[in-house]
Amino acid sequence: MIEILKAIPFFAQLSEEDLNAISQKVLMQYFGPGQVVFEQGDYGEEMYVIKRGKVEVLRDYSILAELTDHSFFGEMALVSEEPRNATVRAVTEVEALVLKKADFRDLLETKPSIASTVSYEVVKRANQLS
Ligand code: CMP
Repeated sequence: MIEILKAIPFFAQLSEEDLNAISQKVLMQYFGPGQVVFEQGDYGEEMYVIKRGKVEVLRDYSILAELTDHSFFGEMALVSEEPRNATVRAVTEVEALVLKKADFRDLLETKPSIASTVSYEVVKRANQLS
């Protein structure tokens, strides 16, 4: 698992020790083409980092974005405590790393490199919602 984390820029700046700790917490999840990861309006419990594959982000049934290898999604509900602002659906087969809310929030609080990557995207994505 550590080798997988090292190959993903989202985690790559972390020390070996941090990667070790995260590798105990991260789960791998697989989705088939067309499979919904979660729906707009759901309560958010996890965030996802795509290891391989493509998803589409749908808001009110129109496509907001497509995300591929090494992108992350599902972070906004965990930061804002609001419901999921979009549906995410696999386009291809997708392998994703999954982090639970408490572990993600812990990373945001303790790892400035991850906090700045996430906040940059959250601001950009939030601007595209309005
Ligand atoms: P969340 O609100 O938890 O669930 C829906 C997710 O879609 C959201 O987090 C983001 O990760 C993602 N998302 C929302 N808007 C965009 C966008 N404009 N571009 C890419 N991803 C987005």
